[in-house]
Amino acid sequence: MTSTIDDYRSTFDGEPGYLNWASFGPLCASVRDEVVADLGMLGTGRASSIAHVAEREGEARALLAEILRAAPDEVTLQPSTTYGIMHAVYGLAGGVLASPAEFPTIPTALTRAADAFGQVRPQWLAPRDGFVTPEVVADAIEDDTTALAVSLVDFRTGYRADLAALRDVIGPDRLLIVDAVQGFGMVDADWEAADVVCGNGYKWLRAGRGTGFAWFNARARNVIAPVLSGFHGAEGGTTVDAVPAPAVSSQAYTVSGPDPLAAARLAAAVGEVAAVGAAAIEEALAERTGRVIEIAQRHGIRIVTPLDPRRRAGIVALAPDNVAALGAELANRGVTATTRYSTVRIAPHVGTDDETIGLFDEACAAFAQQRS
Ligand SMILES: Cc1ncc(COP(=O)(O)O)c(C=O)c1O
Repeated sequence: MTSTIDDYRSTFDGEPGYLNWASFGPLCASVRDEVVADLGMLGTGRASSIAHVAEREGEARALLAEILRAAPDEVTLQPSTTYGIMHAVYGLAGGVLASPAEFPTIPTALTRAADAFGQVRPQWLAPRDGFVTPEVVADAIEDDTTALAVSLVDFRTGYRADLAALRDVIGPDRLLIVDAVQGFGMVDADWEAADVVCGNGYKWLRAGRGTGFAWFNARARNVIAPVLSGFHGAEGGTTVDAVPAPAVSSQAYTVSGPDPLAAARLAAAVGEVAAVGAAAIEEALAERTGRVIEIAQRHGIRIVTPLDPRRRAGIVALAPDNVAALGAELANRGVTATTRYSTVRIAPHVGTDDETIGLFDEACAAFAQQRS
């Protein structure tokens, strides 16, 4: 089924003032309806109804694969992004490049894996502005570097990594492990440059928590030992009275059976993205973030996020000289955003309406007036 960007935009029905999609995405109507229908079916006790809901796992994996331009059997469902990253990082050996300023998912997995097994060695990058650029990575590669772990979109600065350029600098043999939770579904990334892509549906996909996923390509499966593999990841499926080897497919990087209700929410949400296409969403979102940037610039508020639309996605990080004061002006007008560390993080989505953008403009104007 195909749809237009206007169809997609019309699925946003939240209240004005919401600019916090990088934190949590209010659930879309199709996800809410899907849950109600599936809850009803799971309540009947009818085998056919229970089987019907269970089929959502396959649907979700097929739709994720469509977006990733990958094979459905390479995609696994996970409780969250962090679980997928842990499967990837715990099974590595050698040096792994990562920025310590990433969202804690990557630095924590790397540190814990090093402490527990002594097989991986964190190779911490020191990007000046927090941007994991190809240059920063090229300077840090060592002979025993086996992988780079990076966010597609940095949660703090909004910087969007250039996956193709990162692949060029690490070469064909090292793994590129991507935490895509801040970009999946609204950025048409160069997924083919990556080996592992992990994400979750509770932000930009509007599917609620518990809707994580992870994709492992053949190169990743050759290199990453499935050390966290559970009974669900065994070759031949669940087996009693014996413990088979982990599956040769990506299912090796799973622990227990997936939650069908979470899979159903994810399938509904990713289906909407697949119908319109991530490229169209990216273009429409760039227009909204462009408006945010233009307003911040007009009011003299410093922007941390790159201005080049190819190097940003949905996050615009502002660094006003008084973070609390801008945060208060936003809150006074009913604008929800994230004010933390030294930035105010503004995260609109395609369905962010002009009223919300107007409230943001008013808050910035009041802040600028206060400072003058
Ligand atoms: C870049 C990034 N990675 C990972 C996470 C956490 O993801 P999850 O809750 O799916 O494990 C977040 C949450 O904000 C994030 O911004």
